[in-house]
Order: sequence, then C-alpha cells, then structure tokens
Amino acid sequence: MPRTFAVVNQKGGVGKTTTAVNLAAALAQAGQRVLLVDLDPQGNATMGSGIDKRSAARTVYHALLGLGDLLTIRTRSERGGYDLVPANRDLAGAEVELVDLPARETRLRGALERVASDYDFILIDCPPSLSLLTVNGLAAAERVLIPMQCEYYALEGLSDLVGTIKRVRANLNPTLEIAGLLRTMYDPRNMLSQQVSRELETHFGDKVYRTVVPRNVRLAEAPSYGVPAVLWDSASKGAQAYVALAGEVLERV
Ligand SMILES: Nc1ncnc2c1ncn2[C@@H]1O[C@H](COP(=O)(O)OP(=O)(O)OP(=O)(O)O)[C@@H](O)[C@H]1O
Ligand SMILES: [Mg+2]
Repeated sequence: MPRTFAVVNQKGGVGKTTTAVNLAAALAQAGQRVLLVDLDPQGNATMGSGIDKRSAARTVYHALLGLGDLLTIRTRSERGGYDLVPANRDLAGAEVELVDLPARETRLRGALERVASDYDFILIDCPPSLSLLTVNGLAAAERVLIPMQCEYYALEGLSDLVGTIKRVRANLNPTLEIAGLLRTMYDPRNMLSQQVSRELETHFGDKVYRTVVPRNVRLAEAPSYGVPAVLWDSASKGAQAYVALAGEVLERV
C-alpha cells in the first residue's frame, strides 16, 4: 500500500502547494510511483503540474461526489513525472453538496482505494481551511505534513490544526499521525525567522524536518511555466531543498 501524506495548514500561502508539487516531483525523480491529489478549488497544484485546470473536464470533485472513477479521472503530469488528480472551481461547490451524502468525510479515502495499488506515495494538497475538504484529506492520509512559515504568527492556529487532527484520529482514522513540520520560505538573515525556527525545534523536536526550505525565487516562478521547480532549475537552492526533503521522507518510512 502507498504512503499517503496530506499537506495541511489552514493558513493561506505558507507553501503547501509548492511543497506538494515539488515533493511529488522529487519522489518521482527518486524512482517512486507518485500520485498528487489536488484538493483545493484554486487548482494551483494542477496548474503547477502543467495541467490546465480550465480544460480538466473531470476532477477530484467528480470523484468525491461519486460521479466518476479515479481510474479515468487521474491524468499524467508529463513534466512532473507523476500522476495527478486535478481540481478546479467545480470543487468550490463540493463542500455544500457533500454535506447530505453518506460517509461525507471519507469519500476521498474511498475513491483512492481504486488506484492505491499503483503508487508508492500519494500526496494530497489541501486548501487553506479546516473544512470538510481538508477533513477528507486527513481521513484519507496516513501522515500529515505541515508546512510553516517561520514568522511571528506561525504557531498561532497550530493548536486548531492539531485539534482537528485529533478529532479525525478519534472518529475516522485511528492511525493518523503528524509526519513533520516543514519550515518554508526561510530567510536566514531575518532574526525573527531564526528565533521561530529554534522555537519549533524546541517544542516539536524530531517532528521538525531537518530540511529547511529557503525563500527562493525559482520556487515562485516555476508554477508559471507549469513545471515543478525541482525540474525547472534543479540547481537552485529551492529545488535542492525539496530533493533533500524527499530524501528525509524516504528515510523515515
Ligand atoms: N520557498 C519559497 N520561496 C519563495 N516563494 C515561495 C516559496 N514557497 C512558496 N512560494 C510562493 O509563495 C506563494 C504561496 O505558496 P503556495 O501556493 O505554495 O502556498 P499555499 O500554502 O499552497 O497557499 P494556499 O493556502 O493559497 O493554497 C506562491 O506564490 C509560491 O510560489
Ligand atoms: Mg495551495
């Protein structure tokens, strides 16, 4: 069975999608069979994988609502070297439509069962909320990867996230665990960054990945070319950080 990671933080813009896309590409480069699931109506992981979200006729939305099978919905990110379950604005309505359906929290888990045996890793890029979509991501995952920006408010909100993880563990997914906290957009010249980074290490010990992702312009520009930065400029500091993260992930499983 594949290792399934939900990439989660209800804070917006902390590097969830950048992490999901580049970790997927780095694991694929290391010879792993990877499925990336875009679970965000923004469709950023879809676009960042070189798939036009507007032309994706069937997406994760159809899988969640039981209107389609992941066997046919998944598509290949040729540039990323992994398979992708795309998302687009259709998914914005899913929240409301799911509420009345049976097993509304475990629909993604059910959908993934159809394709799980084809992969070594499944990565789920969650939206910036603790919504029913994110709960579906957590219920389908084995581990949670939490990207965090080392800034003043970084720790605020973490307790809500941990609370949600605990509830999902109690009610839906007893073996769910935090894989690790990932420091993103790190600026070593910023004193506050350093301070928050050390605080994370003190509080969370080895739950903090050793890899630190620096602020790096290549990571920010790669999505506009629809190519993960790991492949767009493999020599860049950002790409190298995600290759190192993939090494750490492989070492821990
Ligand atoms: N290490 C980095 N260095 C520079 N820019 C980065 C880095 N990581 C992410 N970015 C940029 O910061 C912005 C937010 O990143 P990203 O989309 O990955 O965050 P997110 O948590 O998925 O956001 P959302 O909550 O909206 O889904 C993007 O423009 C991205 O290209
Ligand atoms: Mg995102």
